[in-house]
Amino acid sequence: KKKMILDLDTGVDDALALAYALATPDADLIGVVSSFGNTQMETAAQNTLKLLELLGEDNVPVYLGASHSSTTTDFETMQVSKDIHGDNAIGDVVLPEPKQNVAAQTAVDFLIQSAHKYAADLIVVPTGPLTNLAAAYQKDTKVADLIGNVTLMGGALTVPGNVTPYTEANINQDPEAADYVFKHAKHLVMVGLDVTLQTLLTKKETQQWRDLGTEKGRVFADIFDFYIDAYDSLNINKAGAALHDPLAVGVAVDPKLVTLLPLNMMVDANDGRTIGDPTRLRDAHKNNFAAVAVDEPFYLERFMNYTLAILG
Ligand code: BDR
Ligand code: CA
Repeated sequence: KKKMILDLDTGVDDALALAYALATPDADLIGVVSSFGNTQMETAAQNTLKLLELLGEDNVPVYLGASHSSTTTDFETMQVSKDIHGDNAIGDVVLPEPKQNVAAQTAVDFLIQSAHKYAADLIVVPTGPLTNLAAAYQKDTKVADLIGNVTLMGGALTVPGNVTPYTEANINQDPEAADYVFKHAKHLVMVGLDVTLQTLLTKKETQQWRDLGTEKGRVFADIFDFYIDAYDSLNINKAGAALHDPLAVGVAVDPKLVTLLPLNMMVDANDGRTIGDPTRLRDAHKNNFAAVAVDEPFYLERFMNYTLAILG
């Protein structure tokens, strides 16, 4: 069975990526590393610990990662992130202090150690900035070739960005790290806005979690309803809120959910755009695969089956 590491900037959709990763029978979640992004890195780690405890899975270790991008010394949460994910990044839902502590090892060292231990059997799923993974690649140059599969949520190839007309939020947080990872990963699948904006969740589905009558079901419904309301009031999408991060987990274990375009990619240094790398365009070997279409009904059915099971 494959081993999975999630790299989360634990906001609302990251919380669902966590639930999906715990529920899927196709991989074992061996750890979660934390990143800045939707919130400060420490808050993301605490959110992960709290959610793991709520889900009865607090045996999964949580590692502290980058607190700012590879080219800056500081990070402040953007107002738009607070508007979409809440001040605490999980829809302003208050959860009890977790019993589990963060692990002693750093995120980068855990990624390196796991790459050597599991190699081709390891799947890394970043759903935030790519700072931790780029740092692991750079600290131990064997790591990029060892990790069998990196499937990330980020980027936009065929649709506009969500931060600027060109760039998506996770790439925008650290374009240099993202560029390094696209170019060096052995096998990288980009689950970008091209497909995540096609997988939407509404209050009809969150009501099904509520109807389970469990604390877990209520909490996840409250968290996601905050995000649905934000998508509505900020005019991002009135038809529902995007399941960005859990789609990356779904594709990581079952790439057949999407149509993949083989393309050697880069991140444009000027505008953070994820595009084809002209210097590698004619290379017969492709290391990047961009998801350009998704089977939404099939994915949504699986997403609801998994989440109803773990929240029940
Ligand atoms: C991505 O940015 C974050 O706000 C979300 O958690 C998701 O990972 C969407 O652009
Ligand atoms: Ca995220």
